Amino acid sequence: MSEPPIERVLFTEEQVQARIREVAAEISAHYQGRDLKLIGVLKGSIFFLTALARHITVPVKIDLLAISRFGKGAPGVVRIAKDLDESIEGEDVLLVEDIVDTGLTSRYLLQALSTRQPKSLSLCTLLDRTIRRLIQVPIDFRCFEIPDRYVVGFGLDYKQLYRNLGYIAVLKRDTSN
Ligand code: PRP
Repeated sequence: MSEPPIERVLFTEEQVQARIREVAAEISAHYQGRDLKLIGVLKGSIFFLTALARHITVPVKIDLLAISRFGKGAPGVVRIAKDLDESIEGEDVLLVEDIVDTGLTSRYLLQALSTRQPKSLSLCTLLDRTIRRLIQVPIDFRCFEIPDRYVVGFGLDYKQLYRNLGYIAVLKRDTSN
């Protein structure tokens, strides 16, 4: 198999795993004495969600949703294409994303989920590309801030490839253009 078209590694596998353990400890402390439902957004967040869940020490449930987007001319216009399997009413819920860019997806999902009467609703993301933010979205737990470059690995793809890399890397410029 050919090598991934990587310009440079941003975070090594060891750095990613160490930071996830730190954030899992923060989450475990925050939800001490409570059960927690993690909600992953297909497909990108599943690698982060499972790694995070392995290190959270409070009882964890998991559910998944998928979104679809309406065309390139309307960024952030999304709808839920695959809904959660179970109700979140009365539960402590943590929405788990691989990346927050414009913030439009996360805000839409937080708004949609908040109408279902969870006991609490928070947001956790592996990556935060603040420079691309169009609207403010409250991030409660975050692993890494990243520069304004196309990144792959640990769930993030380029044409559906490279999600399974253990590290997070910047794609070569001539690949993503
Ligand atoms: C990514 C990511 C978030 C969204 C963030 O999903 O998983 O859901 O984009 O972008 P925003 O802050 O600008 O709204 P993507 O569409 O790449 O799907 P994927 O997870 O299947 O790769």
